[in-house]
Amino acid sequence: MHAPRPLLSRRAGPLSGTIYVPGDKSISHRALMFGGLALGETRITGLLEGEDVLATAAAMRAMGATVTRDGVGAWRVTGVGVGGLMEPEAPLDLGNAGTATRLLMGVIAAHPFTAFMTGDASLRSRPMARVTVPLALMGARFVSRSKGRLPLAVIGTENPTPITYTLPVASAQVKSAVLLAGLNTPGETSVIEPEPTRDHTENMLRHFGAEVRIEETPEGRKATLVGQPILKAADVVVPGDPSSAAFPVVAACLVPGSDIIVAGVGLNPLRAGVFIALKEMGASIEEVNPRTEGGEPVADLRVRFAPLHGVDVPAARAPSMIDEYLVLAMAAACASGRTILRGLSELRVKESDRLAAIADGLAACGVRVTVEGDDCIIDGTGTPPQGGIAIAAKLDHRIAMSYLILGAVTAEPITIDDAAPVDTSFPGFADLMNSLGLKIEGVA
Ligand code: S3P
Repeated sequence: MHAPRPLLSRRAGPLSGTIYVPGDKSISHRALMFGGLALGETRITGLLEGEDVLATAAAMRAMGATVTRDGVGAWRVTGVGVGGLMEPEAPLDLGNAGTATRLLMGVIAAHPFTAFMTGDASLRSRPMARVTVPLALMGARFVSRSKGRLPLAVIGTENPTPITYTLPVASAQVKSAVLLAGLNTPGETSVIEPEPTRDHTENMLRHFGAEVRIEETPEGRKATLVGQPILKAADVVVPGDPSSAAFPVVAACLVPGSDIIVAGVGLNPLRAGVFIALKEMGASIEEVNPRTEGGEPVADLRVRFAPLHGVDVPAARAPSMIDEYLVLAMAAACASGRTILRGLSELRVKESDRLAAIADGLAACGVRVTVEGDDCIIDGTGTPPQGGIAIAAKLDHRIAMSYLILGAVTAEPITIDDAAPVDTSFPGFADLMNSLGLKIEGVA
């Protein structure tokens, strides 16, 4: 338990300035894991130093990798080689980090030892069966609380079996867990995904020297890993996190007169759906100086205020913007007309039930919101909602940040009961946003 840190956000004037957001969380987790499984020294720059990623660093250390911090975002990892991790002496506490938990379950599943995993109340409530089911097919065993929830023990196998697994839900975490288990498995491990999800694991596997084939099949995109490669240390440059960039981008779209630059944002097409949706809503987002950094497309985003209108966001786009629906819903609440966000079933099993967080929080702000099945319908009036409410963050960093962004335009301020979870993905969020002109302050 931590002492709650309430924050309040009040209406702000035009936003201006240039900022860099912290490094990409997905890539940061993977860089530490791959560095720990490779032979030699991997140097990482731009690593996100949020609590989730620090939990991965601690877990990799506990299993034998050498992980050293040289300076801000500059880390070195000396790995043990594929299959070379050691049994951790103590339970691995992954805090709030679902990605760390699920990916490490895959890593551990194909090692001949047992590891215990736990986390905070949010992580302990999240479904893990989606990962234990395929990993059990590969030979690992699990002892968990009901519904596959943490705390759980992974009993890794000495003789993992390769599988071809079709994802029942669009989840990069599940895909990655299976591929990571496939690393220490003889033969070929394949994952077929009906909807393509972020491909950082496949890209990084190749970057570290593994053979990965991608094919389009009638069932969907198939990624095949040739098992037991020799992974060789490789330097990783982590781009700015598009999921974090979405917060200042939406703020500048909403606050009249704003003109900001969010520099160095990763724009992997399987991550950039939120910017497409915002542009469809009429947002002025310009990609300046597009380039490739560390194998990922990157650009500086110049964002200027523009009146937004409602749009229909198709379900097929959900995997490319799965973490951004909350902040997009804030934009929709201020836009004119109806926005329909389709296919949001996965939002119910994130750090909290984010579909409920959108519906309940926006309704409390005076917005008309309806949930029909897995779709969320938001009727904006073209004017920011009233606000003047307190939002429970529910240990969910993105709830806290999204409603603080909305507070920049509501008539009355918005208060968050506890912004401490923001440190999991975006340390320094309030100060960085205030440097652009937002008015986020502590509450006594
Ligand atoms: C992530 C995948 C997504 C996303 C999460 C990070 C990853 O989860 O919500 O924040 O790094 O693979 P799912 O794959 O479960 O949708």
